[in-house]
Amino acid sequence: MPTDYRHKMDVAYQSAIRFGESFGAAHYNLGYAADANGDLRSCQEQLVERLIAATSIGPRAIVVDVGCGSGGAAIHIARTRHPMLTIGVDLCASNVVYARHQLEQSGVASAVRFVEGDAQALPLRSGSADVLFNLESAFHYPDKERFVSECGRVVRPGGTVLIGDLVCTGRFPQVLRAPGTYFWTERQYRESLQRAGLEIASLDDVSRAVHRSVIAAMRSVRREGIRRWWPCRRALAGVAVARFLLRCKLLRYVLIRAIARS
Ligand SMILES: C[S@@+](CC[C@H](N)C(=O)[O-])C[C@H]1O[C@@H](n2cnc3c(N)ncnc32)[C@H](O)[C@@H]1O
Repeated sequence: MPTDYRHKMDVAYQSAIRFGESFGAAHYNLGYAADANGDLRSCQEQLVERLIAATSIGPRAIVVDVGCGSGGAAIHIARTRHPMLTIGVDLCASNVVYARHQLEQSGVASAVRFVEGDAQALPLRSGSADVLFNLESAFHYPDKERFVSECGRVVRPGGTVLIGDLVCTGRFPQVLRAPGTYFWTERQYRESLQRAGLEIASLDDVSRAVHRSVIAAMRSVRREGIRRWWPCRRALAGVAVARFLLRCKLLRYVLIRAIARS
């Protein structure tokens, strides 16, 4: 991973950290709103729940959250599913520091670890995870094929890979691609997972519910006034672009559950 990519990502996510601090958001994801009334925090938690809903996580399970950001999902999984260990991995040192800080106040500190690492070369042993969880992070990876192959390597045979990502449709104009974003089509995902020995058990399009959540989030942020949101304007600009692309149906939001072949 080139250092300047890591550095750019680190700078970009400083703004997301400020957003988390300022608005009390435990996650960086766009959220899932079943109806128009969701508040940001519960919508973000709802998206995590949607991704893990069909997966059983037992008391002896090892869960890995790749691209864990502020650590919200790893902490949520530890609190609600009680696996033996949840390991959050993120490329940015500042996110890892922030996630560790959130963990201190979570009550599940002994069951969660946060480490620095690249999704395209995971610092984990082969077959060491029962569940690999990856929410809204893969669109940042320049080499997604390597990431998917790392999923196939790290998850044990019979284990589950859960990916929530923005995928592009055939109509997506590359000029709209922001720096640091690399979108795949659904077909590219399907073919790559197959090559990595991962069988797709379900693939759900949740674009409408994510779009609803983004609209509600932007509305509540605007209500707070410029002094509150100005320090995190960079993160909010990214959210506004995602909203536009989802609205125009140039991007879709999909949740994928795949099982590693035994
Ligand atoms: C939109 S945030 C989502 C964070 C978290 N999954 C959530 O739902 O709140 C994307 C995260 O991916 C991380 N990331 C980007 N490139 C990465 C890479 N190559 N390896 C690991 N993490 C990466 C970023 O640092 C950021 O924390």
